[in-house]
Amino acid sequence: MSHTDIVRRIRASELFCEQIYLAGQWQDSEQTIAVDNPATGEIIGHVPVCSDAQLAQAFESAESAFKQWRDYTAEERGRYLYAFFELMQTHEQTLAEIMTLEQGKPLAESIGEIRYAASFVKWFAEEARRAYGRVIPAAQPGEQIIVKREPIGVTAAITPWNFPSSMITRKAAAALAAGCSMVVKPASATPFSALALAKLAEKAGWPAGLFNVVTGNARQIASAMTQHPAVRKISFTGSTATGQALMRQAADQVQKISLELGGNAPFIVFDDADINAAADGAIAAKFRNTGQTCVCVNRFYVQRSVHDAFVEALRARIEQLPMGDGFNPENKLAPLINSQAVEKVREHIEDAKRKGATAYTINRPEPRANFISPTILTGVTQSMLVCQEETFGPLAAVSCFDDEAEAIALANDTPFGLAAYFYSENTHRIWRVADGIEAGMIGINTGLISNAAAPFGGVKASGFGREGAREGIDEYLETKYLLFGRG
Ligand code: SIN
Repeated sequence: MSHTDIVRRIRASELFCEQIYLAGQWQDSEQTIAVDNPATGEIIGHVPVCSDAQLAQAFESAESAFKQWRDYTAEERGRYLYAFFELMQTHEQTLAEIMTLEQGKPLAESIGEIRYAASFVKWFAEEARRAYGRVIPAAQPGEQIIVKREPIGVTAAITPWNFPSSMITRKAAAALAAGCSMVVKPASATPFSALALAKLAEKAGWPAGLFNVVTGNARQIASAMTQHPAVRKISFTGSTATGQALMRQAADQVQKISLELGGNAPFIVFDDADINAAADGAIAAKFRNTGQTCVCVNRFYVQRSVHDAFVEALRARIEQLPMGDGFNPENKLAPLINSQAVEKVREHIEDAKRKGATAYTINRPEPRANFISPTILTGVTQSMLVCQEETFGPLAAVSCFDDEAEAIALANDTPFGLAAYFYSENTHRIWRVADGIEAGMIGINTGLISNAAAPFGGVKASGFGREGAREGIDEYLETKYLLFGRG
């Protein structure tokens, strides 16, 4: 099937929606935003720039929905989520194709992301029933202390373009399981995956106003979220700078907030590691989504005696990664989201070269400005931009270290603390290094850490709050304590 036919088929699908979804209605607005395909530059569709009145309607309907939904039993909420999970499975291929069309990632990765996204819905469908409170031995005879967990209220989410579906379900499924309603603002580069999820919410019979998707001006929507009195919680995934601004705005109404912000993940290879396993893990941790994940490795630290063997094993594996349009099943690397993203990678390479690093580029055809071939940098030092900022692209920057203490110090030499990885076969070392690294998530002898059952989130400038696991639902629950006196 030609590319044009694929686009035509996707656009004809009932899941491809060019309207916003709020109060259980599909709505247009006067202005629209064009959305393009990063692989070809062609416009694939338009979404509304929602008005202030539409935003107010979204929050009001979310408030009315919340007032009903919080009284559903946990089992009923779980059933609604489960119906949605099943629809995600049924429509997996279409959801994945929409994602590849607007985000660019290889179709196999989009299918993987839809499964990952659905796994949060299933997880929280089950977790809804486990929002337990507790009974505490009271200080006075005859008294009872009861601790209840209650849904926080109307919630809002701002989600990124790199994982257009899973970052929504990871937040929304937890919120709905807890008994909250949600208004979602997806990234302007990838709104169609979010609107497709809204279509499935409608098909699953979710009550009107429970799950709303609004598109348009990010500043206007963020201000509305932080100013509307009904909104009690905001969850954001994106850059540290935007997260800081949102945190300041959320202070006005003392809204609860969780932030999954930038990372700068280290990947340490010790001399006792299985080098081939480390190189396999490095490919997964560095090149997933063509390097565009918050948990992607930014800095490889390799013990001097195994440096050359590791770099060679990494190079050999990168040679096996063809790059191109995500709809071609051979391609493992795809375009970056836009040309500015490519410019940032180039800037990191040029800065590193100027400061003494050596670059080895595995040349691939670069049909447009959004494509950039993978590069390995060796001789990298901490003063280089690539060690200080998240690159978000297919650039593997490698430095040497001599001992364990130095490796830990280098790993922690960043304001960020989202993910970290290390490879070692020495159990004592594994415990020491895991204790020493400042990060919310650590992959030990693995390059893939994302899982609905695990608490995802960071420390330091990478934010706070956790998604997935039992902690994910806690973010949407308030604690209320009741003291029963003797009367
Ligand atoms: C992210 O990049 O923010 C999310 C990545 C993941 O969930 O694995």
